[in-house]
Amino acid sequence: MISKKLAEAINKQINAEMWSAYLYLSMSMDTFSKGFKGIAHWFKVQFLEEQAHATIMINYLHAQNEKVMLTPIAKVRTEWDDILSTFEDTLLHEQGVTKMINNLCDIAAKDNDYASQNFLAWFVDEQVEEEQSVRDLIFQCKMANGNNAGMMMIDKELGARMYQAPAPLKQQ
Ligand code: FEO
Repeated sequence: MISKKLAEAINKQINAEMWSAYLYLSMSMDTFSKGFKGIAHWFKVQFLEEQAHATIMINYLHAQNEKVMLTPIAKVRTEWDDILSTFEDTLLHEQGVTKMINNLCDIAAKDNDYASQNFLAWFVDEQVEEEQSVRDLIFQCKMANGNNAGMMMIDKELGARMYQAPAPLKQQ
């Protein structure tokens, strides 16, 4: 059993994860339109991952006998200046998500809800990875400094990314 406050906050987070998915799909569309098919593919994998995050939270609320109520997904930005600013925006977004996950952890801790703290620990670790991987991409873009060959190398590398279902979904 979890508190109503935490159930509502996780329900809200499900919407935030779906919004993240939509944002990354939009980034995929924008980078594709600029000719970066590999980077567009990387963002499409992000899109899949964010949907998986929402699914993990839905499964948890169901396991706790809570009803999930879906709400509209707000519109997202559709255009970025260049690849570097797209990744910089991605980092800002993930830092915001980290704060939201930390807020869920705060509620679970105040509730002395050990099951939810265990559940949320996966997301805490995931956010460290998310922020680190996009920070690396920003570094690579800055090193390429707009050089076409450098950007094409990044595009090729990111085009090879494979989607893997996150561990909490694999365990089911
Ligand atoms: Fe669901 Fe990118 O955090």
